[in-house]
Parts: sequence; C-alpha cells; structure tokens
Amino acid sequence: MRPRTAVIPVAGLGTRFLPATKAMPKEMLTVVDKPLVQYAVEEAFAAGIERIIFVTGRGKEMLADHFDYTPELEESLRNRNRQDPLQQIRSLVPSAGCLIYTRQNEPLGLGHAIWCARHLVGDGPFAILLPDDLVWSGPQHPPVMKQMCDQYESLQHSMVAIMNVEAQETNKYGILDPLTAPESSTSPLVQAKGLVEKPAPHLAPSRLAIIGRYILRPEIFSLLGKKQTGAGGEIQLTDAMAMLMQNHPIYGFLFQGTRYDCGDKVGFQMANLALAMEQPEMRTRLLPFLNTQLSHWQTQPASSTNS
Ligand code: G1P
Repeated sequence: MRPRTAVIPVAGLGTRFLPATKAMPKEMLTVVDKPLVQYAVEEAFAAGIERIIFVTGRGKEMLADHFDYTPELEESLRNRNRQDPLQQIRSLVPSAGCLIYTRQNEPLGLGHAIWCARHLVGDGPFAILLPDDLVWSGPQHPPVMKQMCDQYESLQHSMVAIMNVEAQETNKYGILDPLTAPESSTSPLVQAKGLVEKPAPHLAPSRLAIIGRYILRPEIFSLLGKKQTGAGGEIQLTDAMAMLMQNHPIYGFLFQGTRYDCGDKVGFQMANLALAMEQPEMRTRLLPFLNTQLSHWQTQPASSTNS
C-alpha cells in the first residue's frame, strides 16, 4: 500500500523572507522559473500521489490560481501560435478534484496545520511535503518523495526524510534519536527511538535532522488533536510523531539528493544558482559571469549592510 494523498501546508507567513512575502505567499517565490509550491506538487504527483490537500490561509488565493486555467492568457498564446508556453501552463492544471483546499485559521504551528487536514485525508498512510524544503535529486535519482514511497511499499511504517547537519544547527530542525548508529548499516533507513523538535546543540541526541518530507499513518491525527504545545509555543508535528512512536515504529530515511532551505534567503539563492546551472543554456551564460565576478566578490567588501 502506497500513500495516495499528500498534505502540503502553505499557511506560513514567511516572516524570514520579508519584505518579499508581505503581500505574496512565500510558496510563490520563484526558483529559476517555477514557484516553490510547483516543485512540491510535481514531486508529489511523480511519487504516485493522486490528490493533494493544501492547508492554506488568508492571502494565499494566488496559489489556487496558479494551478487553474487562465483563459485570457491561453487565448492570447493560442492566437500567437505560442504552443510551448501554452502547453506548459495548461499542464499545470491537474484533473478536476485532485487539489483540495482547506484553511488553517490561526498560525498555531506545523502540527496544527496538518491536523486541519484530518477530515480530508482518509484512512490510509499519507505524505507531507513542506515546500520551503526544495530537494533536487538530479537525473540520477527519483524525486525524494518517490524514493520514500518506494521504501514505504515494503516497510509499511511511518518515515521522515533525514540528513546530517552541523552540530550547531540542531536547534533549527526536528532531530532523530537513532535506535542504532546509522554508520553501522548500509541501509538508508534508520529506526528512531526518539524525536526532538529543535534541541539546543548540547541536548541533541544526534545530528540527523528531519527535512520536510514525511509519510505518516493517520493515527497521528488523534495525537495532534491533543493540541499540546512544544518548542516555540507551537503545536509541533515532531512531538506528535514522538507520541506515535510509542505504538508504531518510525524510520528516518537518508535520501539521495540535495536539500535547499528556501525559507532562508541564502538557501534560496543557492537553490536558484544550483538549479539554473542544471540547465545547459543558462549555465553557458552564467558561468562566464560568475568567473569574472568571483575575484571582485572575493576582494571587494559587500556594498550593503542589509542582511
Ligand atoms: C519544520 C519542522 C522541523 C523540520 C523542519 C524541516 O520546522 O517542525 O521538525 O526539521 O520543518 O524544514 P520549521 O522549519 O517549519 O520551523
């Protein structure tokens, strides 16, 4: 049994990306030529997901528009025989009924956002994709959610994507406490004996950080329904998973690919540069620019003190 439903929470306020996200949803920020949310949607469908539940909020209407038809634009492109962009924008619209929208009315945390989808998910396992985390798997590997669904098919247990982070970075992530040292195994799966949300470095049980891809059993919803607050005074998904683990195993999955934190200004720039360089015609034009600018950047102080 594979997950057929995905939840994509898109209600966040994007405070780390102001002023860009003052009026625009942070999920519409563009990496090369696609908004972040589109990467998440394409990744979900590529994994065999059949319906996506967006947990959205006030001011996020643009997201639904992005996945709908645009008759005026399409007619204009048709009249000018611009077949490629026409095809591109029409293929953005999934079959009717495959996208479902519900709202998180208050920003009470990721766990609360997921709980808002409880009546829509159904009885089976479901996926969660956080669009801030863009994972590039390149042509060599399947997209990360497909990697996870393939593992899930034989494992049949909840799992989260994990990666190693620097010791001083543990307070930015959910951290997995492994049952056995991952180095002792060749498997990409690491069974958890604990999960902690954003521990200080000296309290972190490991450096294995959760990134925004999950496959969970629906039992998580009754645990999220307890509405216990955790780190940052928010209802945390990680805390509910730690409770779920008392009755159901949870595994970390060391995925193949590079994760970019696109909720962070630097991570976002890295994603843009890295993905642009994957496109031959862009690389041809960007590489000489980067080469000539590099010595300038290395020797001249930055001209602005804004972060
Ligand atoms: C959320 C989760 C955290 C996870 C992170 C991955 O945190 O709560 O466990 O490690 O996403 O990006 P946020 O970044 O929303 O604070």
